Amino acid sequence: MVSNIFSVALAFAAVASAQNCSIQFEGRLPAGATPSTFDAKTSLFDSGNVFGKNLTWGSIIQIPAVVASLFDAKVGTIPFEVTISDKSIFAPSATNVQTGFRRAELLPASNNGSDPSTLGVKTLHFSLMKDAARPLNTSHEYQLVFVESADFSTNQFALKTGTISGLTGDPNQLVLQSNVRNATTLFATPFTAGTFHNFGLVLDFTKNTTQVLYSTGNAALAPVTGAVANDISGRGQFHFGMLKKPTGSNLKDVTKEGFQPSNINEGIIYGGIFQEDSSTGCMTLQ
Ligand SMILES: *[C@@H]1O[C@H](CO)[C@@H](O)[C@H](O)[C@H]1NC(C)=O
Ligand SMILES: *[C@@H]1O[C@H](CO)[C@@H](O)[C@H](O)[C@H]1NC(C)=O
Ligand SMILES: *[C@@H]1O[C@H](CO)[C@@H](O)[C@H](O)[C@H]1NC(C)=O
Ligand SMILES: *[C@@H]1O[C@H](CO)[C@@H](O)[C@H](O)[C@H]1NC(C)=O
Ligand SMILES: *[C@@H]1O[C@H](CO)[C@@H](O)[C@H](O)[C@H]1NC(C)=O
Ligand SMILES: *[C@@H]1O[C@H](CO)[C@@H](O)[C@H](O)[C@H]1NC(C)=O
Repeated sequence: MVSNIFSVALAFAAVASAQNCSIQFEGRLPAGATPSTFDAKTSLFDSGNVFGKNLTWGSIIQIPAVVASLFDAKVGTIPFEVTISDKSIFAPSATNVQTGFRRAELLPASNNGSDPSTLGVKTLHFSLMKDAARPLNTSHEYQLVFVESADFSTNQFALKTGTISGLTGDPNQLVLQSNVRNATTLFATPFTAGTFHNFGLVLDFTKNTTQVLYSTGNAALAPVTGAVANDISGRGQFHFGMLKKPTGSNLKDVTKEGFQPSNINEGIIYGGIFQEDSSTGCMTLQ
């Protein structure tokens, strides 16, 4: 799996499970936690954002009976599922009711937009898996993991699936795009069911580069790209969940226009969310 082309980039990295890198934020859910854990002020994630106006995390999160993801298994934490329904209409203000979207995204509690998670060199870890009982609708575009800049003007990277604006081809893929201002595909892989897809994104905010590490199931992460140029400036917040976009062409305001079908019940299972400091080359691969 490890390409010789890319392994060079990790030559200086202190890798593997023997070493614990310093953690910037922790999103791995302790065993025994319940959906309402996410409503508490002590939650690992912002208890008040981003979800439907009249909902609570307790009604959105599920604790599915699945195997632990790669980085949950290490520490005894558990995966959880983020779901969306017809009620997943985010309304950050009375005049900004986002009827064009269906949204439920978790933001790490310490990630206030100007904290150190968008400084230095950091490796962002997450694993995600489909839920056969809550399939996504690949006629739509979904953002599953992304960073939104502090001024809300861009996403410095976005992991997407479905029918992605500007792309043709199989909608059943995970596609990691660079800064959406000028999006290029950094990495794409089939979004196969029944297994966790594990990502490590090495974000070098001092050099504006992004390197992608990837594996499935229990396999150790391996580089699938080099450290490629990508404008990751602008600070901001990391989102984990679903931002489902509408269908329809020539939409002037995608947040409020377009088509969203009714009676949806969709979900994605997340595990192993954490960010570590890689400024000294430390990164966890297994
Ligand atoms: C790394 O962390 C794990 C889990 O917290 C612990 O069991 C292990 O001893 C640590 N290893 C080192 C080298 O500190
Ligand atoms: C929230 O509930 C109120 C009262 O039932 C309703 O008027 C409003 O449309 C709901 N808002 C959203 C975004 O679903
Ligand atoms: C965000 O968090 C950092 C610490 O990580 C703190 O220094 C800063 O004041 C916080 N900013 C706001 C707006 O709360
Ligand atoms: C999927 O989305 C399309 C476009 O919104 C819609 O026409 C279709 O009915 C949806 N399919 C299902 C199974 O909901
Ligand atoms: C957009 O991306 C292309 C390909 O990576 C690059 O050549 C071009 O300079 C970029 N344009 C801007 C405005 O960043
Ligand atoms: C990253 O790229 C942006 C856009 O070109 C630029 O404004 C910023 O200064 C760059 N940051 C670094 C650390 O090179």
